[in-house]
Amino acid sequence: MRGGYSLSDYVRTECFALAVKEIYKRQLKGNVAELGVFRGEFAQYINAAFPDKTCYLFDTFDGFDANEALTEMKSGNCTDAFIEAYRQTNVPVVLKRMKYLENIVIQQGYFPESLQGLEDTFCFVSLDVDFEASIYEGLKYFYPRLETGGYLFIHDYNSDLRGVEKAVDRYERDMKLSLCKMPLCDANGTLVVMK
Ligand SMILES: C[S@@+](CC[C@H](N)C(=O)[O-])C[C@H]1O[C@@H](n2cnc3c(N)ncnc32)[C@H](O)[C@@H]1O
Repeated sequence: MRGGYSLSDYVRTECFALAVKEIYKRQLKGNVAELGVFRGEFAQYINAAFPDKTCYLFDTFDGFDANEALTEMKSGNCTDAFIEAYRQTNVPVVLKRMKYLENIVIQQGYFPESLQGLEDTFCFVSLDVDFEASIYEGLKYFYPRLETGGYLFIHDYNSDLRGVEKAVDRYERDMKLSLCKMPLCDANGTLVVMK
């Protein structure tokens, strides 16, 4: 195991470790972020891998937006139980997992409102918000602020959460661009977007 990360999704965490290696090899500027943190399972790897970068963590820390969840349930993309499960978190639970606590900036609330005017650039971002509207907003904010050579990991792109791929397609159409994409065969079909 190269990166020394979790075996719960070997492909995801090892591809992440290799992306980190490239980022440091190229001495990229920019900070790191995750949109969709839940209890910080993946965020802990991001924080630990980048000891010299501010790590922004975006989540309501209270589950999905009710209207967005309803839309997705009506489209058959998820169930009540799925929505309920992601309410079971809070900020202290997340912070307990972080190795470099001094680097963590919590951006609590519904994204994009939770940005509150934040301006920064990024060398690594994990988008893990499951639903079309939020993935789209995440792309709109983070892709233009991604450093050249940086990576966006979009979780669930090739999964039952059909809104994720739709959001990426819509973003490309609306922005009239073709993202540089590499799909992973990890547990939840992560899409890696490079710049
Ligand atoms: C699948 S979970 C994230 C899992 C997490 N990355 C992990 O490693 O376990 C999705 C999270 O996205 C959050 N979320 C979804 N849409 C959001 C939005 N627009 N703003 C803030 N948080 C959002 C939910 O509250 C939930 O905690």
